Amino acid sequence: MGVTQFSRRLAALPSYPMAEIPAIKRRLVQQGVDVIDVGAGDADFAPPEVAVDALNRAIRDPAMSRYAFQLGLPAFREAAAAYMKRRFDARFDPFTELHPLIGSKEGIAHLALSLLDPGDVAIVPEPGYAVYEGGTVLAGGEPYRYALTPRTGFLLELDELPTDIARRAKLVYLNYPNNPTAATASRDYLERAVAYCRKHGIVIAYDNPYCEITFDAYVAPSIFEIPGAREVAVEFHSLSKSFCMTGWRLAWAVGRPELIAGLARVKNYVDTGAFLAVQAAGAAVLPLAEELARGYVERFKERRDGMLPVLRSQGFEPETPAATMYVWVERLGKVLTAV
Ligand SMILES: Cc1ncc(COP(=O)(O)O)c(C=O)c1O
Repeated sequence: MGVTQFSRRLAALPSYPMAEIPAIKRRLVQQGVDVIDVGAGDADFAPPEVAVDALNRAIRDPAMSRYAFQLGLPAFREAAAAYMKRRFDARFDPFTELHPLIGSKEGIAHLALSLLDPGDVAIVPEPGYAVYEGGTVLAGGEPYRYALTPRTGFLLELDELPTDIARRAKLVYLNYPNNPTAATASRDYLERAVAYCRKHGIVIAYDNPYCEITFDAYVAPSIFEIPGAREVAVEFHSLSKSFCMTGWRLAWAVGRPELIAGLARVKNYVDTGAFLAVQAAGAAVLPLAEELARGYVERFKERRDGMLPVLRSQGFEPETPAATMYVWVERLGKVLTAV
């Protein structure tokens, strides 16, 4: 057999460490190693009962076993739009400005396909969720890696970008509360980011899956709390982290109609929507979002507060995270997941 010539974009894809971890873990367990799994952003708590009950009911309805298409379940769209209004005072039309996703991962990757041409730059935080770079590469774009460091409080400071990059950039990925550093963004930072992107015509993919996992008095914002953000931002929300539903694959994107329609056009050709019964479960969860999340946050906080003294007693100097399920340990230069 001849050697298969894969595409240049496949060759350009970096490796995906999270995909390798389950196999490594299984091998070690088989060898009898006592493995402590600190997780991959995937808490081991049970999903909300209201989700399980709604799924149970929905799955008995034969209509739920049909194609969802991009419209999906209107009740899910409406519940997500109602959450955006209630939680962030941001009003979105559930049918033209909000789109259901099969988890936010695919939405983040597919947004790049709707925006980038070869030669276009996407600004990618590093460290950061691997899909920002992978989605850019798959779309034929050029990732520009911006190093997140303590110097800027792990904020991606757009003013520091070289002029040439600012000119060629069409997309920037911002993720606060942040995976993996647990950094949060102030309103002042978000205002600067929106102003910069409006000036340079850059779309912000604002990845916000941790907005409900916040501790003490901290409340995480939506980018849409910033005036002018609608011009430039698409925000991604997910049921994965806030409600311990990673495997259910349900999320949504919100933004102005043109940006959402672009994403939907790509998705028309690559998927046929999240399982309708799962969308029914999502529609049952979202009216109770804040209350359900509070319950999980108490448990995440217990784990965070259990982990920090142990790390400190071992000579590490982790910051106390105000949000996320992560603890950033600078001396290790890597993240520990407190789940
Ligand atoms: C920053 C960030 N964005 C997006 C996702 C994807 O979440 P999902 O596809 O489960 O909605 C994750 C998951 O780890 C994440 O950490």
